[in-house]
Amino acid sequence: MKIAVLPGDGIGTEIVAEAVKVLKVLDLDLTLETALVGGAAFEAHGHPLPESTLKLAMDSDAVLFGAVGDWKYDTLDRPLRPEQAILGLRKNMGLFANFRPAICYKQLTDASSLKPELVAGLDILIIRELTGDIYFGQPRGRRIATDGHFPGSEEAFDTMRYSRPEIERIAHVAFQAAQKRSKRVTSVDKANVLETFQLWKDVLTEIGLQYPDVALDHMYVDNAAMQLVKAPKKFDVVVTGNMFGDILSDAAAMLTGSIGMLPSASLNAKNQGLYEPSHGSAPDIAGKGVANPLATILSAAMMLRFSLNQPEAAARIEAAVDAVLSQGLRTPDIYSAGTTKVGTSEMGDAVVKALA
Ligand code: IPM
Ligand code: MG
Repeated sequence: MKIAVLPGDGIGTEIVAEAVKVLKVLDLDLTLETALVGGAAFEAHGHPLPESTLKLAMDSDAVLFGAVGDWKYDTLDRPLRPEQAILGLRKNMGLFANFRPAICYKQLTDASSLKPELVAGLDILIIRELTGDIYFGQPRGRRIATDGHFPGSEEAFDTMRYSRPEIERIAHVAFQAAQKRSKRVTSVDKANVLETFQLWKDVLTEIGLQYPDVALDHMYVDNAAMQLVKAPKKFDVVVTGNMFGDILSDAAAMLTGSIGMLPSASLNAKNQGLYEPSHGSAPDIAGKGVANPLATILSAAMMLRFSLNQPEAAARIEAAVDAVLSQGLRTPDIYSAGTTKVGTSEMGDAVVKALA
């Protein structure tokens, strides 16, 4: 089983190192190969996603990804910015199905910004379509406006679009995921305003007929944002487009206390996957040894389960994470009075120890 390890920028290198530590003590037959991506690759090769990195990722069974980005690249031409690396990997590998679970660990109920009773026991799964929508629609660009409304003024535009097959395949993913959980799907759209999301809603309804055992309801995205902070436990599986999924998954992450706890999986039709924490490169805390590595360690567990068919090893990692939380160990993002503050590598070491 070959894993491409792409740590990236900022805290990416620190957190991926801890996940690699954990993978190495599992006694599995894994080949890990590391490559540069994002700003780090731009510095070394002049491109955020060099050919060699893309090839390594495409030839691997799974990719373990850290994070990319730094404010210092914000003035580069868009194709050279670090974010293009993750978008390029998603598009080139066809990673259309993004799983973002938001689970509130019982040990961390107090770390949430919401009242404990609203989040205790929270376990929702956001399924975000990842290779379509306004992220990838053409045309896009910037030009001097010629439509006469504001003569001579500059405008920018992006295209929101989805095709029927793109919606159908993510709908199947969502209904099948729901069949393994509480058999409920909430499809989030903006069909009251956008044609793209009227098609989305129509296709979800149609595909839903093939899954009579799963209850489907539809919700507008603005209402979904409100319900997520009002009564998050009412949700189970949420399926939505690329843009709404980006926004709602950050909101859902915060319900659990820290975005530093949340793993994610992005899968293609062959179950090849890219696994990354839901958070970004956090340049403000990079290099300080304080980042929470648990989201990345849990992403490695998802990788073992979804792409490498090692569910027992995945469950062992998840149990070890639960154990270190029960021991009271906390990185600063989840620290509260009465617990023990630890750094990134101490947290990784604790997980390794709990595995033994
Ligand atoms: C995410 C991130 C990315 C996205 C960025 C880094 C391109 O916010 O994975 O949620 O917008 O998809
Ligand atoms: Mg995001």
